[in-house]
Parts: sequence; structure tokens; C-alpha cells
Amino acid sequence: MSVLLKNGTVVTTTGRTTADVYVEGEKIKAIGTQLDQKADEVLNCKGKYILPGVIDPHTHLAMPFMGTYSQDDFETGTVAAACGGVTCLIDFDLQMKGESMAEAIERQKGIAGKACIDYAFHLAVMDPRPEVIAEVKQACRDYGTPSFKIFMVYDFRVDDGTMIRLLDETKKHGGLVQVHAENFYIIQHMNAVLAAEKKLAPYFHAVSRPNIAEEEAVYRAAKMVELTGSRIYIVHLSSREGLGVVKQARDRGVQVYAETCPQYLVLDDSRYKEPKWGGAKYVMSPPLRTPESNAALWDGLRSGALQVVATDHCPFDFRGKKDMFGKDDYKKIPNGAPGIETLLMVVHSEGVVKGRISLERMVDVLSTGTARMFGLKDKGEIAVGKDADIIVFDPKQKFTITQKKLHMNVDYTPYEGMTVTGMPATVYARGRKTAEWQKDRMQFAGTLGHGRFVKREPFQGF
Ligand code: URP
Ligand code: ZN
Ligand code: ZN
Repeated sequence: MSVLLKNGTVVTTTGRTTADVYVEGEKIKAIGTQLDQKADEVLNCKGKYILPGVIDPHTHLAMPFMGTYSQDDFETGTVAAACGGVTCLIDFDLQMKGESMAEAIERQKGIAGKACIDYAFHLAVMDPRPEVIAEVKQACRDYGTPSFKIFMVYDFRVDDGTMIRLLDETKKHGGLVQVHAENFYIIQHMNAVLAAEKKLAPYFHAVSRPNIAEEEAVYRAAKMVELTGSRIYIVHLSSREGLGVVKQARDRGVQVYAETCPQYLVLDDSRYKEPKWGGAKYVMSPPLRTPESNAALWDGLRSGALQVVATDHCPFDFRGKKDMFGKDDYKKIPNGAPGIETLLMVVHSEGVVKGRISLERMVDVLSTGTARMFGLKDKGEIAVGKDADIIVFDPKQKFTITQKKLHMNVDYTPYEGMTVTGMPATVYARGRKTAEWQKDRMQFAGTLGHGRFVKREPFQGF
């Protein structure tokens, strides 16, 4: 199969140019003007951007969590991803008690077979036995999974000693430790105070996890990096205070990298006051913050203090899952929200169209920089030799976000009613058409099972 994209605006991290892009099989074969290769499909891209496919490095597909499972699996989750322009994702593979890293990876591969886009895994270290920490070397060099997630909260949190051992080991082998940074004891204390006052509605989820809980945990993690001379990546950074700590560490040459998510850029804690228990839709950890944090995070993206935007896609139905155990207590509401399908449209419309970040910066934080951070050497760029993961993007197409027109396997979207400017027109995943705009919405046009497990390279520096 070959495709010739004619007269599009090819966007990279450093600029844009009008060009043709020729795809043969799975790869980008040529970029130039007036290309005349014979192709099975020729697409006029005048007035459209040609962007590298989005890479979402933070998803939870079919993940056991808080007494239930996140609802999208590798079939529904990757179809929704493709419809939003995401052509590769990195999912969190939670290690079970007693498992080796190799066993955890094989188990996760076993549930990923129907994916329509490529995927990779981060290992979430939940049972940090000495032989598991020692497996970091093989994970980095042989398994193709050189990133390791640890949680400072939840039942499966790890202690600071484990963090230090993992940092030490990853430093030796080109691994990257990712941290969910919130202070467990601050949250535990706040939960007790709120319970005594019978404050158990969804709004109090946010009160129980104040900015200071993130600030302290990011600070502690950054100090462990300083101690070990290793590097760390903070997932779903949400607060102005947390970002301040990241910046201070980076200013001092400590390698602290961080991602944020669309929900922390465009939504705020007023959402927890939605009537009819609607605040439960936004129960996620860390919680939504104030507009001051939204603005600080956009600044961080613009300046480079934040390197990646990811989704933390972890959907639970509003009716049936959010209220299964948590109707009378925010602590029992499954934490997480859907977002993989709306990532690009929200960041483009709220970020680029509103002048908060440039188009080139968007390409960096959604694709090129993400590929570099996580060792996806064949992805993240419109360049000869790279995988043909391509979005033909119509910057003028308007779309009013509504769950009815999305593909995620969940009964709501946090962005219901938001009108965005700019939508994918056609999405190619490794050379194959996978989604396209039809009439008033994106439609899946790909093949289940086309996605492959991608082995990643160890960390090369950022
Ligand atoms: O609330 C969230 N973020 N749920 C998913 C698990 C996690 O902490 O990333
Ligand atoms: Zn987390
Ligand atoms: Zn997460």
C-alpha cells in the first residue's frame, strides 16, 4: 500500500513547510515538492497540516483498580485513540505480587492483541523484591521497557527506600523512573479531618489532596534524584506549586522531567460543584486545581519546564462505576477519567488556537519530545525512514465535543459541550488508514490487530 499526500503543511518542532509526503508500506519514503511517485492513494492536503501521530505515554487500559477495571481495553481504547489522532500509546503494566518483570510484560502482551495502533509498556513496580530491582537491567536492554512507574500513594505505594534503589539501578542502565507524586500522609490526615466533619461529597476529594501534597512529594522525589544523580519523570503534574519545585530542581541541573494532562490545563476545581453528584466525573488523582495552576502549566509547557502532555486515560462510567461504592464517600469513587480521544483536539484548540503554545511546540509535547523521552526511535516525526504514523489535520474543522460522537467505552466526557477548532481529517498508523473525518465526526477506518508491541530504547538524554 502506498500513499502520496500532496501540498500539505508539514509541521516539525522547528518550523513548517509546504511539501508532499510519500508513504510506502509502513514507512515515510520521501518528502519534497512535486513528488510524482505512483501511489495507491493520492490525497490533496492543501490547507491541512501534516503532523506526526500523537503518542500518549500515559494510559490505563483494562486495569484492575479500586475494586473494578478501567473500561477501555486494547480494542476500544486504541480505536478511540486513533479517532483522536493518537497512533501509539504506552500503557501501564501493573506488576502483580510474586511476578517478575518478564512475566508482567508477557501477561500484558496477552491482552493487547486487538490493538489497532502500536503500543508499548511501562512497568509499574508494585512488588519491589531485590530480584525485581535487579531485572531493571534486562528490562532496559532486552525487554524494550526502560521506564518504571512507582506510586507514592494508594495501597500499592512504595517507600522512599525503594525509590532510591530504583533510581540507582535505572541510572546504570538507561532507565527512567516515573513517579505519581502525592504525599500519602497529608492525604490520610485530610481524609480523617473531613470524615470527622462528615464531608464526603465528591468536592472533598479535591480538598483532601491539596497542592502542598503534590509539592512535597515532587520535592522529595527530586531530592532522591539529586542524591543518586539519576533522573525522574513526574506523571500528571497538576499544580503551580509542583511545577515550581520541578523548575527549581531543573535550574540546579537536577534531571527532573514532567508531563501534564489536558484536564489540568483546561478544567478547574469548580467542576466538583456540578449538580446531581456530577463532581464524581472529575474524581481523579491528583485532583483538578484552580485557574492559577492552569495558567502556570501552560507557561511551563511554553517554556520547556514541562516536556510532555499525556492523558492519564482511565475511564469509569458515571452511572454504574463511579457510584458503585462511592455514592456516600468520595474515597470509594474510582479515580480516573477518559481522555485519549480528546487529547489532540483540546490541546490544539485551547493551546495553539488560543495562542498559549505554538503549533511547533504542540508537535513537540504531543509527539516528537514524547518519542525522545521514551525511546521510541521510529516514531514522533515526519521524516524519511520514520514509521508512517501521520495525521492529516484540518485546522479549521469545528467540532462540539459530545460523548455521543466519541468512541471511548464510557458514558461521559469531561469536555461535554466544548467546541474545538481543528480536527484530524485522516489518520494513518504505520501506513494504514485508521481513522477519518466523515460528515460530522471521526470514524474508525482501520484494522483491529494492526498494532504491534514496540520495543523501546534506553534513555538517551533529553
Ligand atoms: O486518578 C487517576 N489518575 N487514576 C489512574 C491511576 C493513576 O494514579 O494514574
Ligand atoms: Zn497516577
Ligand atoms: Zn495514571
